[in-house]
Amino acid sequence: MTTLTILRYPDKRLHKIARPVTSFDARLKKLVTDMAETMYNAPGVGLAATQVDEHIQLVVIDISDTRNELRVFINPEIVWQSEEKFVYEEGCLSVPDIYGAVERPAQVTVRALNVDGNPFELRAEGLLAVCVQHELDHLKGTVFVEYLSPLKQNRIKSRLLKEERQIARQMERNNERNIDTDVTKKPAIKRGLL
Ligand code: NI
Repeated sequence: MTTLTILRYPDKRLHKIARPVTSFDARLKKLVTDMAETMYNAPGVGLAATQVDEHIQLVVIDISDTRNELRVFINPEIVWQSEEKFVYEEGCLSVPDIYGAVERPAQVTVRALNVDGNPFELRAEGLLAVCVQHELDHLKGTVFVEYLSPLKQNRIKSRLLKEERQIARQMERNNERNIDTDVTKKPAIKRGLL
């Protein structure tokens, strides 16, 4: 198993459109395993292939407290959504330490294929419905911050770019002094990151 690098907003690759999966081979199964490990390590409750720079329609989700209920969605589409809305304070592994309230349909039905290429349908509500919609957005190149006001979006962008520069400088300094520390590692956040 391999832990994959998660792209950080505002990386342009987060806006690529994912293409459908056509072969359900060993390579796909390995990517599913690696993405699951990456999500559990982060820790997060959902991860889209787009976030690890693989532009295929693949999403992994586990919203369980026990962290052993992995759900895999391949070529997913939302075939029904409720009129009723639900507001949730979303976060994202690609947008570290930023949260924002997003309103989405409260319930959705998603149709997808499993890792063997067999179709299934799932009716989701609550956090699972939020997560499914958030991850499917990633496959379409949309990051949740795009639902926030332009002012907020710009603030988030400049804050994250500044942080990235600080991290790069710190790593350079560490390299000069030959210190092996990863300053990008932060303590685990209890909140569910999507
Ligand atoms: Ni996300």
